[in-house]
Amino acid sequence: MTEDLSNMHLTKAEFQEYGYQLVDWLAEYFDNVGQYQVLPSVEPGDIRKMLPVSAPEKAESMDDIIADLDRVVMPGVAHWQHPGWYAFFPSGASPVSALGEFVAAGLATQGMMWSTAPSATEIENTVLDWLVDLLGLPSSWRIDEGPGGGVIQMSASDSTHLSLAVARYQFELSGVDTNSLVAYGSSHAHSSIEKGARIAGFKHIRSVPVTSTYGIDADAFKQLVQEDIESGLVPAWICSAVGTTNTTAMDPIRAIATIAKENGMWHHADAAYAGSAMICPEFRELQDGVELVDSYTFNPHKWLLTNFDCSIFWVADRSKLIETLSISPPYLRNKTEDNPSAVDYRDWHVPLGRRFRALKLWFVLRSYGAENLRTFIRSHVEWAKELENKVLGDSRLELTAPRTLALVCFRHLDGNDATKKLVDAINSSGSAYVTPSVTDNVSYIRVSIGSTWTEQRHVAELWNLIDTNAGPR
Ligand SMILES: Cc1ncc(COP(=O)(O)O)c(C=O)c1O
Repeated sequence: MTEDLSNMHLTKAEFQEYGYQLVDWLAEYFDNVGQYQVLPSVEPGDIRKMLPVSAPEKAESMDDIIADLDRVVMPGVAHWQHPGWYAFFPSGASPVSALGEFVAAGLATQGMMWSTAPSATEIENTVLDWLVDLLGLPSSWRIDEGPGGGVIQMSASDSTHLSLAVARYQFELSGVDTNSLVAYGSSHAHSSIEKGARIAGFKHIRSVPVTSTYGIDADAFKQLVQEDIESGLVPAWICSAVGTTNTTAMDPIRAIATIAKENGMWHHADAAYAGSAMICPEFRELQDGVELVDSYTFNPHKWLLTNFDCSIFWVADRSKLIETLSISPPYLRNKTEDNPSAVDYRDWHVPLGRRFRALKLWFVLRSYGAENLRTFIRSHVEWAKELENKVLGDSRLELTAPRTLALVCFRHLDGNDATKKLVDAINSSGSAYVTPSVTDNVSYIRVSIGSTWTEQRHVAELWNLIDTNAGPR
């Protein structure tokens, strides 16, 4: 059977025609995203009902496919890029990042080894080294200096899991019974810490108490470590949060590092959200002692204008990472495998294949420049301060945690029901979306300012919404 396959694909002219149409479609979206209701009005199953039960046997036209973006997709989109998105943490994208992603998708290079993707590998090496300097991290984490180095992962959860897996393997290599290893994280640590420890095979996971400002209580950590040693266990891994999800609390890295080092533990820092702020030198004191950790993760896909997925994982000593992950069947051997200038990223994370994620990050860092990125972060922190002051000056409300960056946590003084009612009023307005949360049975509202298109006036509008719905003064 001799088939001509060339007619299957979009022709060059069709690719251009529909490509331009889609760029126009996205440009309109960026321009109008603030006009949408932040959350869609759909019920589970509504989108599926619009889709056929089985895949098309015959080719469909691109006109029909593109029309379905408006007909099928848009009714079910939660608009994470809406200027009124204050929920969770931001997942900020940018037009230039979308363009980088588009080109990476078209090149579809597989960066498993230097030899399969020299540009992708060396651009990733370079932008991560740039970020080491931009964030004020130890220069020994630069790949071109070492012994550390960085790699782009899908998510902070992956980075944390990997850090746990490497730590566990290092203990195994040194002959420790891995059933006795203990992982520690703050009682306010992100769920990815417990999840990562569980799937990395840790049998003992400790939740460390926090102080009144929700950072780890270093004395309580020391005591837990002591108790575990006395009962025959081996303290192995601790996570310091540089900005917890609940309140952006900072764990005391330096004090934790002393205890971790004394006990031969692996120390990981989770700066998933707050890491982006370190591009501004004035915030770096929040992660004082960072040079002492063994690994560190932060997400440009949260607050650095780079679309999901793009999470960075740095290790202080890359030889341990590579020792844990390197397996070399004959089909992966290659001519440059012993050349230190040719990084084989397959040995730096779990998957073999990998996308050219560095391209969008490279586009973002160049197109904005560090100056604009700093202005972006500082503006959000300023607007958060303004909102914090409004809350402080309002007799109906109170802060429930100190504000460190651009997350403001507050509640209604009439209690949990009044707080929940206020959340419902904000979220049902369609123009803003905040996350309700609970700490020690106290309900509160998280307002996380950081979306790409949010401006000062949107935060002022949010305050009006809060003010109007908080009841009589
Ligand atoms: C402190 C912290 N760690 C980890 C994560 C998980 O991030 P990811 O979705 O990249 O796994 C989050 C998400 O908000 C977070 O706030």
